[in-house]
Amino acid sequence: MADLSAPPARPGATPGNPKLGNPKPGNPKPGNPKPGNPKPGNPNFSSGPCAKRPGFTLAALQGALLGRSHRAKEPKARLAEVISLSTEILGVPEGWRVGIVPASDTGAIEMALWSMLGARPVDVLAHESFSQAWATDVVKQLKLADARVLNAEYGALPDVSAIDFSHDVVLAWNGTTSGVRFPNGDFIPADRQGLVFADATSAVFAMDLPWDKLDVVTWSWQKVLGGEAGQGMLALSPRAVERLLSYKPAWPLPKIFRLTSGGKLIEGIFVGETINTPSMLCVEDALDGLRWAKSIGGLPALIARSEGNLAAIASWVEGNPRVEFLAREKATRSCTSICLAITCPWFSALDAETQQKAAKSVASLLEKQGVAFDTAAYRDAPSGLRIWGGATVERSDIEALLPWIDYAIDTVAADFAK
Ligand SMILES: Cc1ncc(COP(=O)(O)O)c(C=O)c1O
Repeated sequence: MADLSAPPARPGATPGNPKLGNPKPGNPKPGNPKPGNPKPGNPNFSSGPCAKRPGFTLAALQGALLGRSHRAKEPKARLAEVISLSTEILGVPEGWRVGIVPASDTGAIEMALWSMLGARPVDVLAHESFSQAWATDVVKQLKLADARVLNAEYGALPDVSAIDFSHDVVLAWNGTTSGVRFPNGDFIPADRQGLVFADATSAVFAMDLPWDKLDVVTWSWQKVLGGEAGQGMLALSPRAVERLLSYKPAWPLPKIFRLTSGGKLIEGIFVGETINTPSMLCVEDALDGLRWAKSIGGLPALIARSEGNLAAIASWVEGNPRVEFLAREKATRSCTSICLAITCPWFSALDAETQQKAAKSVASLLEKQGVAFDTAAYRDAPSGLRIWGGATVERSDIEALLPWIDYAIDTVAADFAK
């Protein structure tokens, strides 16, 4: 079984942030390069909501069925098309059910956990902020007695050899706040007894998912295809459907979490009859993203775009004295939420709080220069930068951004270096 566990902390750990200690020798020469370099055509590098697809304008939404009932024939057909196009592009296997549910990815994963957990013990893998949140829900809200939380620090994955696959397993396929992804599904046995719940919101449409190793997969519209936030997407394997039909949790379920009625699956959820009212503007926008995805060559093209963005960043990081990937293992580096630690000796010498201030200053300088918005690390993550490299981001924009990061770090150094 593959061991994806965290390697020991690096030698040369720094006082401010011991887990990120990987100082490359010597502070870089400051002021290189200078402003005046070309700027990215699109400075939107947020990890959600993410950049719209190339060429997007509001004109793409002109055909939206505004002011119509979402239950009428045409609007319902648009919702159904979101399901069918998503299923087709992602290659969701025959026999799975794909539905539209309330409250974005959070709603999708929460309704799955609330509806299906409790039937057997559960292992929750917690390696960054969102997966930690699901662990909190399982332990403190659902209060499942037979729950284990397998933790890992930011930058690492939990020790997968410790997972008991006779238990249900909850994980985030790509840790959006740590930039760490599962490189493959080899650690999940095909003949597992429990169900695997994968929050895959920052992985779908950018990474190959091992569908045969997963049972519940969730995502939102606002990540890799650059859609507007709104409804969530829920995909269920035949085994997950079987769980829903054979198990009734001991706790009450609010209407927006209910996937069954009278012992049967609520079929409407999987054909575009949503539980609550969706925004038809967001539906149109989700369709625009999906049609764009199909037009450029579907999943292989989306993955190639995202991996290209990671490759551009990786070749810049290599030999750069300023930065390092937060993900410790190369195979686990995310191609969507690309998280970087600042490794200059002047930065490593700061205490954690000042490191956070310095990293935020770098992000705000990038913003002030109009070259990148929203690149500060997630609020609960180690201080550093996070650059979204999902499929809607152009590699040329990433390449234009990188010298500006050098410039911003070197400029901020003057305020913080002692
Ligand atoms: C891994 C992960 N899970 C859940 C969420 C929450 O998604 P949403 O706000 O679309 O519900 C996010 C958002 O960034 C995420 O990255």
